[in-house]
Amino acid sequence: MYRSWMFVPGNNEKHLRKVKDLTADVIIYDLEDAVPDERKVSARVQVKETIASRSEKVNFVRVNALDTRYFIDDLHEVMTEHLSGIMLPKVNSRDDIVIAAYLLGQLEEKHQLPKGELAIVPLIETAKGLENASDIAKASERVLCLSFGAEDYTLDLNIEPANAEEALTYARSKLVVASKAADKEAPIDSVYTDFHNEAGLEQAALASKRYGFQGKLLIHPKQIDIVNRVFSPTDEQIAEAKRIVELYEASLQKGEGAVQLDGKMIDVPIAERAKRILAYAEQEQTT
Ligand code: COA
Ligand code: MG
Repeated sequence: MYRSWMFVPGNNEKHLRKVKDLTADVIIYDLEDAVPDERKVSARVQVKETIASRSEKVNFVRVNALDTRYFIDDLHEVMTEHLSGIMLPKVNSRDDIVIAAYLLGQLEEKHQLPKGELAIVPLIETAKGLENASDIAKASERVLCLSFGAEDYTLDLNIEPANAEEALTYARSKLVVASKAADKEAPIDSVYTDFHNEAGLEQAALASKRYGFQGKLLIHPKQIDIVNRVFSPTDEQIAEAKRIVELYEASLQKGEGAVQLDGKMIDVPIAERAKRILAYAEQEQTT
């Protein structure tokens, strides 16, 4: 489970130097929208060098979209042993993933990298992509999880960006359902662009969590701690989960499948959710 996915513009030397200090779970070096055309080629070199010296991070590169003149060379130029995978923007169909997965396989072969390990995180940010989200998630073993690009999605659908949250409800829920139905990890929610607004980000991240996302895309170092905290269970939640599991198991011993705790019913799904919180907390402790 990765909570915080931090974009770092691939052409910005100052930001790239900061990567070593960032506590984000995943770094996404951007070659797409944060990089102007005249810097696309040099950014690849900067990104590759940074990844080579940051082996301890989970390193993804957001390449340019399949239908751009940059895509193929982006893939070729960033291949290196510490690359975890690519984020593929503006994915519209299953075929996009099949093509990218095939090319990654070829490049793994050419660069003698372990076979099948480079992951793909499709960015769903068009009406076509959303319609095909389920097929996209299922298109390849390489698809780790889906991610949502609300900025481009609102542009594609001509949704008024101010107060767009309600209009994005369908897209968010659809991505969560499509991911689960494809047996993939939960998706990653869109960026929160107003990076000085910490309270606003916290509310947005809590909403993402309620939808069922596993984490959020980020643009500024200030956002990392907030998102890591929101997507981790609190001490109170862990303590409550322990009480639920203990009580439920004791009630099963007595031959009862439903029991009450502080006036609330506990049965299978509630006990399962509590077990999941404990498993998540344990996993966090060991990583
Ligand atoms: N990655 C790494 N470091 C970053 C960073 C990022 N995305 N954003 C800011 N920083 C660093 C800055 O280098 C600066 O370091 P310093 O304290 O050593 O000077 C510090 O954090 C504070 O930055 P700040 O001055 O508040 O912001 P800025 O004007 O330098 O940058 C943005 C603001 C929005 C331009 C920048 O955050 C950014 O480029 N974000 C990502 C944009 C992107 O990738 N977009 C595409 C995906 S939507
Ligand atoms: Mg986009």
